[in-house]
Amino acid sequence: MSKLGKKNMIETHIRLATMDDLKYIDSLAQKEGKSVGFLPKIVYEAAITGLKPSKHRWSPICNDKIWLAEENGDTVGFVLAGFGKFGKVHQICIQEDARLLERGRLLLDSVISHAEMRGRYDFSCGCADDLESNRFWSAMGWVKVGERRGISYKNVWKESSDRKVNIYRYAINELGLLGQTKIVEEVCGGDE
Ligand SMILES: CC(C)(COP(=O)(O)OP(=O)(O)OC[C@H]1O[C@@H](n2cnc3c(N)ncnc32)[C@H](O)[C@@H]1OP(=O)(O)O)[C@@H](O)C(=O)NCCC(=O)NCCS
Repeated sequence: MSKLGKKNMIETHIRLATMDDLKYIDSLAQKEGKSVGFLPKIVYEAAITGLKPSKHRWSPICNDKIWLAEENGDTVGFVLAGFGKFGKVHQICIQEDARLLERGRLLLDSVISHAEMRGRYDFSCGCADDLESNRFWSAMGWVKVGERRGISYKNVWKESSDRKVNIYRYAINELGLLGQTKIVEEVCGGDE
């Protein structure tokens, strides 16, 4: 069947993750670790509950969110995004047998709509240079604005890997138009 034919037959449902989804998210992220990088399970937990685990942080609030894509009740992928001063896509992943059917696009749309409601119009993400998904970011209108070396989640301040990571950004102004704003730092995507 053609790609267009398949697209017309699917109806993807996007929803926020719950604790029941934790196992699925963690196992898909581990399976696709080379593409999405490694994050400990507590990061997903915090994004779902909205609370950071440690008592020693300056704020217990976690501004990350996770959305899931579902097809006929089966989960097919997720996106983890942060909504601090800027929007940041930390991880996006559609399982291998469900790709190229607009689910990645729908997940990204949810991130952008949520950010817009909170007055966030500037987004970034990192994507290792060797991944096919660079073509996804370009197709979605994200613009490559720089490069860095890979980093470890254990020390996000140090670029300790030789893997090249492309930095993408996407900016819209309050009228919904693509605009020019300053390049922002980002920490995830294709890291160890
Ligand atoms: C990247 C990813 C999330 C894209 O999700 P998807 O559901 O397969 O992508 P979509 O169907 O929504 O694609 C949206 C657009 O991107 C394009 N695109 C997506 N993946 C592509 C690829 N591998 N090669 C070329 N184009 C691609 C599509 O053709 C489509 O463009 P169009 O609207 O002009 O036809 C998915 O491929 C994935 O999970 N990859 C493995 C994990 C990964 O690499 N994550 C990103 C790390 S930075």
